[in-house]
Amino acid sequence: MGTIILGTGSTLPRRTMSNVDLESIVETSDEWIRTRTGIENRRIGGVGEKTYQLAASAAKKALEMAAVDPKDIDMLVVGTVSSHMLMPSCGCYVQNEIGAAKAFAYDINAACCGFLYGLDIGDRRIRTDRDAKILVIGAETLSSRVNWQDRNTCILFGDGAGAAVLGHSEDPSRRILGTNHCSDGGLWELLYMHQSPSQNPDLLVEDNPGVHIVMEGREVFKHAVKAMEDAITGLFKRTGKTIEDVDLVIPHQANIRILNNLVERLGIDREKVVLNVMNYGNTSAASIPIALDETNRSGRLKTGDTVLFCSFGGGLTWGATLLTW
Ligand code: ACO
Repeated sequence: MGTIILGTGSTLPRRTMSNVDLESIVETSDEWIRTRTGIENRRIGGVGEKTYQLAASAAKKALEMAAVDPKDIDMLVVGTVSSHMLMPSCGCYVQNEIGAAKAFAYDINAACCGFLYGLDIGDRRIRTDRDAKILVIGAETLSSRVNWQDRNTCILFGDGAGAAVLGHSEDPSRRILGTNHCSDGGLWELLYMHQSPSQNPDLLVEDNPGVHIVMEGREVFKHAVKAMEDAITGLFKRTGKTIEDVDLVIPHQANIRILNNLVERLGIDREKVVLNVMNYGNTSAASIPIALDETNRSGRLKTGDTVLFCSFGGGLTWGATLLTW
């Protein structure tokens, strides 16, 4: 008896950019990108594919699967760091786009962990209001937020959106079993993105290199593996579960080498790990809900399966969520 996911949806931009396409933009190679990251292609937003438009499209598909009317959504939350506007929120744009008139809407800025933090908030809300229907979305157009001259970062990211509708189930075997989320603001400099310069000269940030992602790749790599490992082992302690109880792992799709390291450290059966990073690159907050929706629609998820999500991103933020499907 608890919170379950009633429906999922995802939307990717039409345009595919391959590693070979990137070779004409920065000094790189298909071989370098594949071996260092596992990425082969990523999707890049075009006209009509702003963050809120991808998010709204994914949300409509999730609502349709859940057979929930947009008018019945009570809360709508979007994890994103690449909305086309700072205000209104991406959430308010989506609310308007899909006609979720009753919902209150807002964004979560937790980088790649936006969707998992949103699930946590939605779960806790449903525990205090069993009739509530919640829409949790992860949506990004990071193509608008990378420096296309920086080969260290521009090859990694892609655009897309994924959504999940949450509701209450009386079935005791199906629920969100637990979450274990963490942040360390002391490590912000490893991965960050500035805003446009302050209009108040006293509040100007010195050394603002521009509104794009800046990253210390190697350090991020090390922290990502260790942090997700700790979040997962902490979550197992909290829930009394072990890695053997997990039927499917849907990790944030950052980098194949990060995931390989994590799989080795935790002794996870590779067959249980969902991977689509080769197709879409790192879509930040959108990556877990996109992978979840693809898995769900492929029929790979079975009622009663124990599913593990884990993520890591700018902030630094990280965490893990365990649920029975
Ligand atoms: N093409 C070719 N060469 C490149 C490229 C590129 N795209 N990018 C960097 N290089 C070069 C560097 O300039 C360097 O050259 P040098 O030795 O002459 O100085 C060399 O490759 C090695 O650079 P490193 O940064 O040390 O390469 P590394 O093996 O660490 O791989 C990478 C870089 C892929 C970014 C890795 O550090 C990584 O995966 N980090 C995790 C970052 C990540 O996933 N961030 C996403 C956000 S956080 C998250 O979602 C988890």
